[in-house]
Amino acid sequence: MSAVKIAVMGFGVVGSGTVELFYKNKDIIEKRSGREMDIKYILDLRDFPDSPYKDKFTKKFDDILNDPEISVVAELMGGKTFAYDYTKRLLSKGVSVVTSNKELVAAYGAELLKIAKANGANYLFEASVGGGIPIIRPLHQCLAANRFSRIAGILNGTTNYILTKMIYDQLSFEEALAQAQELGYAEKDPSADVDGHDATRKLCILGSLAFGKHIYPEYIHCSGIREITLDDVEYAENAGYAIKLIGLIENTPNGLVATVCPRLVGVNNPLSSVNDVFNAIMVTGDALGDALFYGRGAGKFPTASAVVGDIIDAVKHDGREIVSLSWEDSDNKDFMCHYKSAETRVYVRIRAENVDSLKEMITGLFTYVDFIPRKHRSENELAFITPAVVESEIDQKLKAISQKAQVMKKIRLL
Ligand code: HSE
Repeated sequence: MSAVKIAVMGFGVVGSGTVELFYKNKDIIEKRSGREMDIKYILDLRDFPDSPYKDKFTKKFDDILNDPEISVVAELMGGKTFAYDYTKRLLSKGVSVVTSNKELVAAYGAELLKIAKANGANYLFEASVGGGIPIIRPLHQCLAANRFSRIAGILNGTTNYILTKMIYDQLSFEEALAQAQELGYAEKDPSADVDGHDATRKLCILGSLAFGKHIYPEYIHCSGIREITLDDVEYAENAGYAIKLIGLIENTPNGLVATVCPRLVGVNNPLSSVNDVFNAIMVTGDALGDALFYGRGAGKFPTASAVVGDIIDAVKHDGREIVSLSWEDSDNKDFMCHYKSAETRVYVRIRAENVDSLKEMITGLFTYVDFIPRKHRSENELAFITPAVVESEIDQKLKAISQKAQVMKKIRLL
């Protein structure tokens, strides 16, 4: 049998890592796929005259599309324009595509999976969530016997790094962000990470796979970590919590509730001790209970590890559909429940003159609350944690409090 021919589109961090890893471990990769394999093309508009792979470069997508030898393509370009067009055209020709492109899968996953299946190809995206952490394949294969009730995860390494620096080194958000940018974790425009959009895309993919319907980014309530201050970090710590950016999707009797937002995570929850750029995803299934997937959620070789794993799987399934990797499209969000209609506990920080005189009123509103101690607490400031109440009702109660105090912060608990 002739060698399987592969193309890699995009020679950035993940693309170059994929090519490097492929040739470094080619012997075991071929053994595990059961076939000889080679990379025939690398698509990139830039020139790489000193690259050891310089003979493989092309600037023309058509070289890949029109070559009948190519049976698997790794789309590592990112974005939704060219990547969408090229992926559709390849899948329509029966060429399998593997990707790390979370933006594309979150926006067009249902459509691209359908095109793949109609044409005897596979669309694989293990690298799109959690970098090198195995999570996509466990969800639809190893855990396929479970009904899932909840997925909660730290899905973004950059924000987890920033929050870790705030918690352990008392850096402000701005200082920690600057450090993350210096280290190359955060982009110059950090909004996709710090405002929660990257984590939202990853939650879309996990939720769609676990619950069977496409969850589009606009179905998910998303807020980032820009508003978190060292005051909040200290109050949280005093109450026995760490603040983490959590992607959470839960199956409730009223539908799926999905949010990406900072949450107070109790120190007994393993997610509270996931630090630096690491990611972790906790999956709850009816047969297994909780399972935690932990590891490097980004970076050249961790992500390439998942990409090459998918290439091997695509080769192994040549011409055969991976049935379990699929979900239905959705044209409305009737199966979702608005997050304001779900119960939650919240941490609240308020400011007022003689704030202690409001304690009785606050306790009366919520029946009971846990007031949080803080060394050197200003007499104008008070923080407390509510019991579990439907969030829209919490907002009503906070509105009553805001007649007498300034509500500085409200952060949900996990
Ligand atoms: N910017 C992302 C992160 C990279 O920080 O997790 C992987 O999506």
